[in-house]
Amino acid sequence: MAVRPRFTLTVATSRDAFIARATDDSPASWVSAEEQALFFADVEAADWAIMGRHTHLAADRPDRRRIIFSASAAPGWHRPKQLWLNPEGMAPADLAEKVSQVRTLGKGLILGGTRVHDWFLAARAIDRVHLTIEPISFGSGLPIFSDQESRDPKAVFSAHGFAKIEERPLNDSGTLYSVWQPAAPAGLRSGGD
Ligand SMILES: NC(=O)c1ccc[n+]([C@@H]2O[C@H](COP(=O)([O-])OP(=O)(O)OC[C@H]3O[C@@H](n4cnc5c(N)ncnc54)[C@H](OP(=O)(O)O)[C@@H]3O)[C@@H](O)[C@H]2O)c1
Repeated sequence: MAVRPRFTLTVATSRDAFIARATDDSPASWVSAEEQALFFADVEAADWAIMGRHTHLAADRPDRRRIIFSASAAPGWHRPKQLWLNPEGMAPADLAEKVSQVRTLGKGLILGGTRVHDWFLAARAIDRVHLTIEPISFGSGLPIFSDQESRDPKAVFSAHGFAKIEERPLNDSGTLYSVWQPAAPAGLRSGGD
């Protein structure tokens, strides 16, 4: 029997719970070196990274294994290790058979943006969250989840059903790293809110 893929959401946010100031705003311009080191370790550890079209285009890496969500682009393998698809009507576990010819999807890394986070959240398929909060405020921008009401990233994850299991400073500048998991064990989770 196929093993269910495990999905980790890795995300860097501002203090006021935004993932970017605008669609073309690369995190590399505002995150700390410590966050970047953890981010690249997560990328290395994953079988596949899953992201939206904007996130892919903002940091194009032709050699990386990526599943790119888009309703406007032609679905299919645009490069040997990069599959574009429209996830409408699919479940997160369905991604595994789409990419198995290239590499088994055991560990999936959710890279954003907002609608990609929403899609995995709606399916209750986020098994872990690696959250880095940088000591910067944007005032406005792209949220972590489209329905978030709080301007505190930790409150956003609490309100969306996650419990913190680890927290530590990453540097002396005020960058804070935390790890979260669903508050209810996977077997007890319902299909929606
Ligand atoms: N701070 C962080 O940790 C972090 C993480 C990721 C991204 N970012 C930043 O966030 C920005 C991009 O985020 P974003 O929210 O604007 O865009 P995004 O999710 O990267 O891309 C949006 C596009 O992806 C496609 N898409 C996403 N979800 C879909 C779904 N469920 N079904 C069908 N298509 C879907 C659509 O493409 P079509 O229009 O082709 O249909 C949509 O227009 C960039 O600046 C990026 O650098 C930051």
